[in-house]
Amino acid sequence: MRSKLFVPGSRPELFDKAFRSDADALSFDLEDSVSPDRKTEARQVLQALLSAEAPRASGKTLIARVNPCQSAHFAADVLAVVRPGLALLNLPKVESAEEVLAAAAALDAAEAANGVAEPVGLLLNIESARGLRLAHALAAAHPRVAGLQLGLGDLFEPLQIDRHDPATVHAVMLQLRLAAGEAGVFAYDAAYARFQDVDGFRAEAGEARRLGFLGKSCIHPSQVAHANDIFRPSDEEIARAQRVVAAADQAQARGVGAYTVDGEMVDAPFVLRARATLATARRLGLGQGPT
Ligand code: COA
Ligand code: MG
Repeated sequence: MRSKLFVPGSRPELFDKAFRSDADALSFDLEDSVSPDRKTEARQVLQALLSAEAPRASGKTLIARVNPCQSAHFAADVLAVVRPGLALLNLPKVESAEEVLAAAAALDAAEAANGVAEPVGLLLNIESARGLRLAHALAAAHPRVAGLQLGLGDLFEPLQIDRHDPATVHAVMLQLRLAAGEAGVFAYDAAYARFQDVDGFRAEAGEARRLGFLGKSCIHPSQVAHANDIFRPSDEEIARAQRVVAAADQAQARGVGAYTVDGEMVDAPFVLRARATLATARRLGLGQGPT
C-alpha cells in the first residue's frame, strides 16, 4: 500500500478516475471531505459502490473512512460500508481505547449483518495531541488494529504549528512510527494538501520512507505516481538485500552470527530487514530475490 488515494464519498464522478489510477489503495471518505448536509447521500453512494462486484475485482485495497465514533453518523456509516472486499475501516480523530473497542464491536455487528466473512481491519487516524500521546495504547487496544495513520492538518492547525516545518513533521512522524512499531502495526503517512507542490510531497514522502512508513496518503491523482515511486524498494536496495540474505545463508552454514557484507557488519536484525525488503519486492513484482 505505497499510495492510498482519498476520494470524497459525495463525488461519485471521481470514482472511475480513482479506479483507473495506479493507487494501491482507495480510501472513500465520509468524514471531512463531505459537507454535513450531504453525509446521508454520500453514505448511500458508498453503500451502493461497495456492494457491487467491480471494486472488489479492481485489485485495489479498499478502505472507507467513516465519521468519528462519537458522531451521530458513525453507526450508520459502518453498517453501510462494511461489505465483502472492504479491507480497512479508517477511523478518524481517535483518542481513547474505548473508541477502538466500540469500533471493533460495530465491525462485529456489521460483518454479521452484511455477510462479510473476511474480518475488516482498523486504520486509526492519529491527529490530535492526545491521540499522539496515547498512540501505542490505541494501537494495542484491539487485534483488529492494522495501522496508525498520521493526520497533520487536524493535529497542527488548531495548535498553530507550522505544517511545513520539516523538523516538526519529522518529530511527530518518529513518535507515531515508534508507537506503531511497539504495537506491531504499520505506520502510514499523512496527506499533503499542496497538491501542486511536487517537490514538497516527495520530500515529505521520502522522510516517511526513511522512518519505515508503509506509504503516503494522496488527495489528488497526480500524487500517486510519486508515492509509488518513493515507497518501492530501489533496485540497489533489492540487490543489497539479496547479498545480505545470501551471506546470511552462508554464515549460518558456517555457524557464524556476525559477518561482513559490502564492508559493513551484518547480524540478525539486518537479515530480518533484508528479507522484508525482498518480500515487498516480490509483492510488487520486482527482482527475483531468494527467500
Ligand atoms: N480522486 C479521483 N479523481 C480526482 C481526485 C480524487 N481525489 N481529485 C481530483 N481528481 C480528478 C479531477 O476530477 C480531474 O479529473 P478530469 O481531469 O477528468 O476532469 C483531475 O483529477 C484533476 O483534478 P483537479 O482539477 O486538479 O482537482 P480539483 O481542483 O477538481 O480538486 C481537490 C482538488 C483537492 C478538491 C480534490 O483533489 C479532492 O477533493 N481531493 C480529495 C480530498 C479529500 O478526500 N480529503 C480528505 C482527506 S485529507
Ligand atoms: Mg481531517
